[in-house]
Amino acid sequence: MNEITVPKIMKSKNISKITVVTAYDYTMARLVDQCNIDIILVGDSLGMVTLGYADTLPVDMRDMLHHTKAVVRGTSNALVVADMPFMSYQTSVGKAVFNAGRFLKEAGAGAVKVEGGSVILPQIESMVQTGIPVMGHLGLNPQQIAVMGGYKVQGRGKAGDLLLSQALELEKAGCFSIVLEAVPPSLAEKITSRLRIPTIGIGAGPHCDGQVLVINDILGITEGFRPKFVKTYANLATEIKKAVSSYSAEVRDSVFPGPDHCYKD
Ligand code: KIV
Repeated sequence: MNEITVPKIMKSKNISKITVVTAYDYTMARLVDQCNIDIILVGDSLGMVTLGYADTLPVDMRDMLHHTKAVVRGTSNALVVADMPFMSYQTSVGKAVFNAGRFLKEAGAGAVKVEGGSVILPQIESMVQTGIPVMGHLGLNPQQIAVMGGYKVQGRGKAGDLLLSQALELEKAGCFSIVLEAVPPSLAEKITSRLRIPTIGIGAGPHCDGQVLVINDILGITEGFRPKFVKTYANLATEIKKAVSSYSAEVRDSVFPGPDHCYKD
């Protein structure tokens, strides 16, 4: 079992901020796990970030199990949370519990994450009763992109009351924490103060109990559109292109491999 556990995360509320970052492979998980990160989320954002899909909908159990296993192999400190992909938990309680169990049993994850409110409460209750820790996810739910018609801020005005009541329902169903995505900071603050379990914000302002970002965004590897809430802490896209172009130029100019990179006769 990794150093950080679900009970430790729950106890952090009102004591210390919870740091969460995504990772999708062994190498990145190993690096991230040395950075004082509490939770590594194998997000279904891997669909866009790693697999080149337009959204998260095509991601399936096979993809998620494959990448979760790799992340688990690279992690000994952080709690690994696996995102349940679209259609792996929505259609029935039995299917949801079976698929969630695979992340713990086959991949070695410490918990799963599911998107949505009231409609999946029976699934969450059964998973928790079975012994599977569940992280909820409210606000902008990317798996609902088809009905939401785009990635937009959620919970403004009266819609905020619905989100608060859904958060309370998820807590009652047994979630150990809830991701709040793309909601106004004042609503995130209200939900955070009403819940006994920690909230993890992404585009939800500073009042949540923790924050999550996609690792490729933090590192500046992502090219193209960048949401307002993303802060980049490095510009690795430029560094990677510089390094690979230098390698390519040296091979073409017969500079690499030089004597230092050859075995002795
Ligand atoms: O899939 C993902 O990476 C996520 C986080 C951004 C919360 O769900």
